[in-house]
Parts: sequence; C-alpha cells; structure tokens
Amino acid sequence: MLKEWIDGSDGIVISMASSPGLPKTSLPWADGDIDLESPNRNLAPISSELDSQGRLRVGGCLLSDLATRFGTPLYVLDELTLRQACTAYREALLRHYPGPSLAIYASKANSSLAITALVASEGLGLDAVSAGELLTALEGGMPPERIVLHGNNKSAEEIQLALQHGVAVVVDNWRDLELLQELCQGHSSKVPLLLRFTPGIECHTHEYIRTGHLDSKFGFDPDQLETVLRFLANCSWAHLRGLHAHIGSQIFELTPHRDLAAVLADALLLARSLGHNVTDLNVGGGLGIRYVNSDDPPSIDCWVQVVAEAIAGACKERELDLPRLLCEPGRSLVASAGITLYQIGSRKEIAGFSTYVAVDGGMSDNPRPITYQSEYTACLADQAAAPAVEKVTLVGKHCESGDVLLRNLDLPASKPGDVLVVLATGAYNASMASNYNRIPRPAAVLVADGRAELVQRRERPDELLRYDVLPERLKSLS
Ligand code: LLP
Repeated sequence: MLKEWIDGSDGIVISMASSPGLPKTSLPWADGDIDLESPNRNLAPISSELDSQGRLRVGGCLLSDLATRFGTPLYVLDELTLRQACTAYREALLRHYPGPSLAIYASKANSSLAITALVASEGLGLDAVSAGELLTALEGGMPPERIVLHGNNKSAEEIQLALQHGVAVVVDNWRDLELLQELCQGHSSKVPLLLRFTPGIECHTHEYIRTGHLDSKFGFDPDQLETVLRFLANCSWAHLRGLHAHIGSQIFELTPHRDLAAVLADALLLARSLGHNVTDLNVGGGLGIRYVNSDDPPSIDCWVQVVAEAIAGACKERELDLPRLLCEPGRSLVASAGITLYQIGSRKEIAGFSTYVAVDGGMSDNPRPITYQSEYTACLADQAAAPAVEKVTLVGKHCESGDVLLRNLDLPASKPGDVLVVLATGAYNASMASNYNRIPRPAAVLVADGRAELVQRRERPDELLRYDVLPERLKSLS
C-alpha cells in the first residue's frame, strides 16, 4: 500500500508511514513492512520517507539539509516515533492489565529536557539513576510523583535530592538503607520506597547488560528479602510502596518476563504478610529492538500482554489484590526514534583486505559497537535506496583500531562530504557519549512535521578545556 503524492519541489514521495497497515517500501534496509504500532520492530523512524530522487527524509526534514544546517555528527530524534512508542506502552497496559498501571521511561537510554518533556506529556513516568538524570527529569517537567530514583551506589546527595522532591527511592542494598535512615531522622512524612532484588532469572543477551541472574551487582539477594522486609517493617519513616526486579536489556525472549511474574508475586505475598502495604510491582524494562534486518523483537503490545497476563495470573493464584503494574522501558521507547548523521571523509583501500570509509564521529558518539560488538544498519542520506557497489568497513575518527561503527556495510559509490545515516541510535548513544580524544559531543535535533528544533547544542572544542585547572607553578614552565 504505497502512498504517493506530489511534493512541491521533489516530485513523487514514497512514504513509509503515511497509511495505516503495513505499507511496503523500496528501501533495501527496511525489507518490506513497517510496523506503525510498535516502533521497536522497525529499523528506521516511522516518519521516514524516500523522495523521488532517493533522498531520505525523517519528520518531514531532508536529512542532508539537516546535516548542512546543524553540522555533523548529528543526533536526530523523530517525535512521531517516540510518541508512538509511548502510546503503544500506555494503550497496551490499559488493554491487557485489569488494574492500574504506569510505564516509566528509563532515562539512562537518553536523558534530555526535550525527551523528558515529551515523555511526561505522554503521561509516562521516569526512572533516574543519578542527580544529573533526576535534575533533568525535574527541570523537564516530569511530576516528581511519577519519578523513581534507582542506583546501586547512591550518594547521600542523590538520596537527599529525591527526598526533597518527594521522589520514590528504589532501595538497592543495605548502604541505601543506612543513608536513608540517617537522612530521614525527623522526617515528618513517610518516605516512598521500592525494594529491588535480583530475581535469579537468566536471559539471552550480552553479559554486560544482564542483571536478573543471581551474580549481579544490582539489588538484594533473594535470600535476604525476608530480612530486609522485616527490617523495613520497623522503620517508622518508611513506606514500602513497591517491589522491583529487572532482568536485563535487549531481550527478545518472552519466557523470562513470564517467569519474573511468579517471583515478584511471591515477594508481594511475603511483603504483605509482613504488614507492608505494597501497591506497586515494577517489572523493569528490557524489550529489545531491531538494529539489523535479522533482529525480530516482539512488539510492545505482545511484550506488555505477556507481562500483564503473567502478573495478573500470578496474583490471582495467590489471592492477592492486584497491584499497580509498573514497567521501565528505555531502549524500546527511544532507540528507533533516533538516527545519527555523519559526513564521510577519508578512505583507505587495502588490496585483498578491507576498504575503510571514515566518518567524522565514531566511538565517542556511539560506544556500543566497541563495548558490546553491537550491529547497526546504515545508508547514504541522499542515495538511501541505491544499489550497493562495494562492501566497506565504516570507521570513526578516534585513535583506536577498534573504533569501527559497522563491518561489511554494503554501500553505493560514496565520496567525501556525503551524509551517512546510522539507524536506531536513539538509545544508549547520546547518553553514553564521551569526549575521547577531546572530540566535542554532537548536537541533537527533534524533527516533526517538517520542522527541526535544536534540543542539545553541539559542544565546542574550547569548551572541553572548561574544567581543566593549570596550577600556578606549571604556568611558569611554558
Ligand atoms: N530499569 C532498570 C533498573 C535498568 O537497569 C534498565 C537498563 C532499564 C530499566 C531499561 O532497560 P531497557 O528497556 O532499555 O532495556 N548500555 C546498554 C544497556 C544498559 C541497560 C541498563 N539498564 C546498551 O547500550 O545496550
């Protein structure tokens, strides 16, 4: 169901998202169907369009124009895709869970004022893990009662900030309890808490992003659960509002999430039997997304259905009143909304080996390939559907051989100055970016309805010296 229309200057435009259902696209990397309901299942943002000259637009903006206007590397975030992912979680929870519910955005995936404001306007909550993420959430307009503070080594200042604003604290360990007890002495109202424990559930994902297994740094050991619950029952300052467990990230399997329901329901039964008025069960996040064509993650609706039915069923079996169901998606909310634009620069051909094509960013704006061997999909912004003529290794500009963004990338003929697009970079790219080699971090723009708005200004090289201090005695040496 291709929808075609005449677009003033460019002629016929092929839209990937203009009609309901699953329209076909000629984009080689999209391989057919676009899932308009569940953005995590697509390689590209749902507003992506190809014009008659084969140039890619997102949010109604020509990507090569954005590169000219804002410079590269550039993070581009499609508002439609982000809002659709929020809607998908919200509606699926309403559809499949018979009790109250709230989807909480795990802001570690991509934390900014603009994203916070968008997510808050969609009615979601937010998970913060540091003073920085918490301040961003509060400044971005997220109501404090919809925020939770996570962290396996919270500072007293971070906990204090949460307490000041009435933000619920997710207690991860005994040190958290010690600090809370010190800070809450004389607190007039009870402090809302959730308790995190490791559920002892294995899943298939990269070992660095697995958290549900017993040998994890996060949360109380399940053996300690009863002791902690008894301890909390004697803390007059505490209101244990919820229980939390998270099994990992970029997960395609549904069984671990189904198994988690029984573990959480058992913990809920125990907590209530010890006198805690626990109303929230938080199942964490973890739903995977499509980075390359062969990835096949479940839809948001399907994931929520499995989780919701499992929690409702497990509570019914134990004759427990239904708790409020919380989930904490990060990646599946923002990853597919984001792309990164680079400019192609140098090229090195080694006969019998590789052809290296270098771009003006790399492991500082996207550390995922070097950290987790993550795969991505890329194309040229102005030749998005052109046939490939060569296989290249796409590398960054950092002084490190491992600074490879993509291996075996099929590319049409390219030249310096061409704009290259890496897809599905909306999660854990900007938020994990560094200044390695003193390279400034990119700008970010939000696109919607043909409008592009700057939401994060590009750093300048001179700004990177801002926090350096040259002791007086060293000044005389130069
Ligand atoms: N809740 C908690 C307590 C978490 O630790 C995480 C992710 C989430 C929710 C969100 O999970 P998601 O829905 O995004 O899978 N840097 C890694 C991912 C680390 C995930 C850390 N925790 C990456 O780039 O793949």
